[in-house]
Amino acid sequence: MTERIYITDVAPRDGLQNQQLPVSTESKLALIGLLEAAGLRSVEATSFVSPKAVPQMADAGELVPAVAARWPRLRTSVLVPNLKGLERAHSAGAREIAVVLSATETMNARNINMGLAQATEVSEQTLAAAHALGLRTRAYVAVAFDCPFEGETPLPEVLRLAARMHAAGAGEVVIADTIGSASPGQVKERFAALREVVPIDRLAVHLHDTRGMGAANAWAALEAGVRRFDASVGGIGGCPFAPGAAGNLATEDLVLLAERSGFATGVSLQGVLDAIDFAQTLLQRPLGGRSIAWLRREQARRQAQAAEPAAA
Ligand code: COA
Ligand code: ZN
Repeated sequence: MTERIYITDVAPRDGLQNQQLPVSTESKLALIGLLEAAGLRSVEATSFVSPKAVPQMADAGELVPAVAARWPRLRTSVLVPNLKGLERAHSAGAREIAVVLSATETMNARNINMGLAQATEVSEQTLAAAHALGLRTRAYVAVAFDCPFEGETPLPEVLRLAARMHAAGAGEVVIADTIGSASPGQVKERFAALREVVPIDRLAVHLHDTRGMGAANAWAALEAGVRRFDASVGGIGGCPFAPGAAGNLATEDLVLLAERSGFATGVSLQGVLDAIDFAQTLLQRPLGGRSIAWLRREQARRQAQAAEPAAA
């Protein structure tokens, strides 16, 4: 039987949080609809953070009920940095939340204005409160490879925080290469250690493609046993508080890599191209992962073939 991998498309949150052009709630819904139509079964739709910190996510309270009404079966997670975010998410009807804990002092300070100890406690409290409300949960461990301010993140620290998030009941512990600096060797080493402290089926990986190693890192994670991935259609993404962070691992690259290696994703590449077309118009710039030129050529070839009159 073909083994399956599970993709959460984070384009609506990680992808749009950092854009210069304002994106309307209706356009966000259209993008999420295209992701759903492409076969993605899980998205990170938005974040309930301070609108002063991230103006692009200010409409989270309107977006979440609209997504639930249109696509009731779509797994829809939202990022919350604290109890206030959880409260807002819950009153909007969110059914899954993700807390965001960075593995260094400085990254927590820059991202959520807390020290590491406080951020850890707040994440634990938020997870506990989310469980009490009956919500599904994820916990990011951000800058799990390198921190833009502190350099290489010590592995024992990543293990300690991942174990704490698991003990706090996180349904998934998402190991994030926030600035896209990881290498396949590091991914292999870190997941071999991580799976000793968190069951492998509770671990997910969130990659960025800053150095062109997103797909290689995804392969290293697959080989290490990881089956849950974050990715973003067209590779749109990046944290506004992490200097040097470029786009996410592109969903199309991950789907191509996985399917060509014998894993099922349930995702249609044509559907992903449709979502990229829409996002390009929205953001007024070319988008796409490493495979985009080839995917476009294949698409053109298929279209030309379909247009040819059948041979006599
Ligand atoms: N949603 C909306 N508003 C929030 C909030 C949330 N989750 N948490 C706090 N606030 C509001 C407070 O009510 C307060 O509002 P006021 O000025 O009108 O009274 C204001 O924000 C400051 O509150 P405080 O608790 O002092 O927060 P802070 O200034 O220390 O900021 C965060 C902390 C977490 C709210 C802020 O740093 C943040 O939103 N960061 C998000 C980072 C992010 O999205 N990064 C990218 C994804 S990893
Ligand atoms: Zn990210």
